[in-house]
Amino acid sequence: MRKILVIGIGAGNPDYLTVQAIEALNRADVFFIPDKGTEKAALRLFREEVCARFIREPRFREVVVPIPRRAETPDYRANVDEWHAAIEASYERLFAEALGPDETGAFLVWGDPAVYDSTLRLLDRLLAKGVAFEHEVIPGIGAIQALAAQHKIPLNRIAEPVLITTGRRLGEDFPRHPGSVVVMLDGTVSFTRVPEPETVEIYWGAYLGTKDEILVAGRLSEVCGEIERLRAEAREKHGWIMDTYLMRRVGGASEQAE
Ligand SMILES: C[S@@+](CC[C@H](N)C(=O)[O-])C[C@H]1O[C@@H](n2cnc3c(N)ncnc32)[C@H](O)[C@@H]1O
Repeated sequence: MRKILVIGIGAGNPDYLTVQAIEALNRADVFFIPDKGTEKAALRLFREEVCARFIREPRFREVVVPIPRRAETPDYRANVDEWHAAIEASYERLFAEALGPDETGAFLVWGDPAVYDSTLRLLDRLLAKGVAFEHEVIPGIGAIQALAAQHKIPLNRIAEPVLITTGRRLGEDFPRHPGSVVVMLDGTVSFTRVPEPETVEIYWGAYLGTKDEILVAGRLSEVCGEIERLRAEAREKHGWIMDTYLMRRVGGASEQAE
């Protein structure tokens, strides 16, 4: 039976690889490498660095998976569904063409495969269609854990929940949520539009775990402009940016009770 390993490789620092991930890298015959175009070249370099450092006897093959651009019509869910159908078709074809009957293929997933990554969803679609393979998931240290570690904070305050959301949904989610909110995939500096920023604390991190890491924390009303400026400068300098942040209202109910 063909086997597929979905390996979380951490969010940018090769030292984030777990022993389990390193062992999985060494079991793969074929690596499926998504090609998302030039703007993601830095991520491709990271994957190459990880393979060069941790694979003991390089005997693997690499297969590039072309990733089409997602349509940007207003129907977001329909766009994603159509996009996934196209990627799924590529996976199905490449599994058949590139993987022998008893070989092991692997996807190297940025951060953790369970967080804002569709590899597992795509594999489920193939299994539902009757494509035969076994798969294993190896968790990784994602941007959320990296953010908390670098700022030296717990994600939750005592007895309060944590919500993980996107920049696109922040305006809707933040005012309604009673605890901490972690924001990923924010291309439009949504934190600048949060009402009453003087009552909000933010822990922001860009390029977490890498040599280019930038961290800012403080009252949103005081650091918002600085984050916006640093973000724009870094984006200009590197040509791309990945940032994650946590926000919460200062002095939540449980904080006062403890
Ligand atoms: C498609 S999601 C992938 C998340 C990944 N699976 C994880 O567990 O971190 C990409 C988003 O993750 C966040 N991210 C990933 N790596 C990051 C890093 N090194 N520093 C800051 N944010 C990062 C950013 O919010 C980025 O927009």
